[in-house]
Amino acid sequence: MSDNANQAASQSAKSAGQVLSHDDIRNYAPPEGCLEGKTILVTGAGAGIGRVAALTYARYGATVLLLGRTSSKLEEVYDEIEGSGGQQPAILPMDLEHATYGEMQQLENLINKEFGQLDGVLHNAGILGDLTPLAMYDVTTFAKVMHINATATFMLTQALLPLLKDAAHGSIVFTSSSVGTHPRAFWGAYALSKQAVEGMSDIFTQETQNTTNLRFNCINPGGTRTNMRAHAYPGENPMTLKTPEEIMAGYVCLMSDDSINVRGQVVALQPKD
Ligand SMILES: NC(=O)c1ccc[n+]([C@@H]2O[C@H](COP(=O)([O-])OP(=O)(O)OC[C@H]3O[C@@H](n4cnc5c(N)ncnc54)[C@H](OP(=O)(O)O)[C@@H]3O)[C@@H](O)[C@H]2O)c1
Repeated sequence: MSDNANQAASQSAKSAGQVLSHDDIRNYAPPEGCLEGKTILVTGAGAGIGRVAALTYARYGATVLLLGRTSSKLEEVYDEIEGSGGQQPAILPMDLEHATYGEMQQLENLINKEFGQLDGVLHNAGILGDLTPLAMYDVTTFAKVMHINATATFMLTQALLPLLKDAAHGSIVFTSSSVGTHPRAFWGAYALSKQAVEGMSDIFTQETQNTTNLRFNCINPGGTRTNMRAHAYPGENPMTLKTPEEIMAGYVCLMSDDSINVRGQVVALQPKD
């Protein structure tokens, strides 16, 4: 980031130095251009909540790096951002089930070379796995869910840290779930992986808060109208659920400099869910 951009970011952060409550985050009214000058990576950016988060971050001025495993879906998001006049995004194809740590380090190098900065990461990609008692849980599926939802999330965070540490006010947002905060029978590896993500955010916060400007938080979107939710609750009427667009205030808030004093939180966007 240039000195001028750094200065501008610090100015904005100083004027926005308050500590926001979870209600403030949920009800955030994003100012126009609040993410201008920021480069934000979104995992699972091709579908569901990640797709809408990527479009929304671009709408508020960010350069968005679209990471996911299905290039055709990422290309559609890319075209939509370009078509609406957003900053030119980038497509980063990566299957988090199989990507190696070395490939993630190469990605960090590539982002550094092409963009010179990384200000935010939304760890959104995830899979549901099976909804079944632990006593019967397929061990291969268990390992896959834990890897995509938790281990790869850790690997990618660590690989991107060198660049993130240079950001004036870097924000890493992990995605949890109500069953991550309160484990529930039959939610198996999904619940355990989300518990791991909440713990990861907490530990990263403790380990970095005195030495970097980075902040780590978890977001729990609550029941949201996506394919994953439809798989988890096949009998539910999706029209009773909020759309991803309706929960974006919190997603923007945690990336904007208005939340620089929000650290180590698990923010439930639909607390009664
Ligand atoms: N929807 C809800 O009600 C709800 C509630 C609580 C928490 N969440 C969490 O919110 C996040 C988004 O969920 P969603 O409902 O939007 O789910 P979704 O519609 O199923 O989207 C999941 C996204 O993750 C990507 N993904 C899955 N496996 C991947 C892999 N191996 N490598 C790279 N990307 C991968 C998918 O890519 P493809 O499209 O290419 O498969 C897709 O873009 C998840 O972390 C989920 O646990 C959702």
